[in-house]
Amino acid sequence: MDACYNRYVMVYTHQQISKVAELLRKRHQEHPGGNLLRSAELKALYDEIKLLKPKDRKSFGQEVNQLRKELASLQTTEKITKSSDIDVTAPFDVNTPATKRPALLSSEKGSQHPLMTELSKVISIFEKMGFESVDSRQIDDDYHMFGSLNFPEGHPARDDYDTFMTSEGLIAPAHTSTMQNRVLKKRKKDLLNGKPIAAVVTGRVFRNEDLDATHEHTFYQVEGVYVDNNVTVGNLMATLKAFLEAYYQRPLEVRTQPFYFPFTEPSFEFALKRPDGSWLELIGCGLIHPNVLKMAGIDPTKYSGFAWGFGFDRLVMMKYGIEDIRHLESGKIEFLRQFK
Ligand code: DAH
Repeated sequence: MDACYNRYVMVYTHQQISKVAELLRKRHQEHPGGNLLRSAELKALYDEIKLLKPKDRKSFGQEVNQLRKELASLQTTEKITKSSDIDVTAPFDVNTPATKRPALLSSEKGSQHPLMTELSKVISIFEKMGFESVDSRQIDDDYHMFGSLNFPEGHPARDDYDTFMTSEGLIAPAHTSTMQNRVLKKRKKDLLNGKPIAAVVTGRVFRNEDLDATHEHTFYQVEGVYVDNNVTVGNLMATLKAFLEAYYQRPLEVRTQPFYFPFTEPSFEFALKRPDGSWLELIGCGLIHPNVLKMAGIDPTKYSGFAWGFGFDRLVMMKYGIEDIRHLESGKIEFLRQFK
């Protein structure tokens, strides 16, 4: 793993180290001034190395050193952020002649946001699997948000998608499923020509959330829609597993459990095993509900399909061991520079 990712990236394979890492990161958040490098927990990990069998020492020792670096970088960043405030006021009057204007920062100093870099990787994997890529919208209406997705008027399932609305009733979409009806309508002629509908929809979504390390009001989703003859749950599972293994570049353990979405029947939650052995519920998915197909003018007695939607930020967080989703929309320069 690239050394410049140290601060947010580390995923520790030794459970003992990963637990200490979590504890010390938390301690740092609560008491940013403390010296983590002198903590008893870190010292205990160093002491542990001597007690291990010689063949186990190397990998354990390397991870403890890695943790030490992560903690050191947490502390330095704290100092930098404290000492260098950024002047956000306009630096000159619009009428200042060009020769007297302060020099602009050179564009080479900037870099692409990590989410956008990762999104291109995701889209390219799906394109190789035969999916076309579609952008979602950042403003939508009630029909696309709910009606076309088989949410009856006033149904309590609507409450799970509490988001922002303009006084004219336009909605900042809470999921990318808003695009399903449009994609299905636009592509249904492909079905008549014997071709499946296969699309991935990506874009920003918005929710009225209580914010914490795993919940943001603004995040990204990646939605998939596939329709053909005789589509099965097996096709859905194989597609998602193949995608995730291509993205993380390693074999993965996955599992599903039944769930409820109005727009799929049956519905599932697809979970992925984290390096520490716990499960991350990552993807909502299922077979497209016949009413959703009907609303797009597709005959559900002839065709069937699957769909999924996942929070893309979480996928990226797991890849790089980013511990707080809020870093991604924060614009924090120290965070972003690690991905340059
Ligand atoms: N839209 C759902 C959400 O944001 C996720 C989802 C679940 C999308 C199942 C789908 C699907 O397309 O079939 O919670």
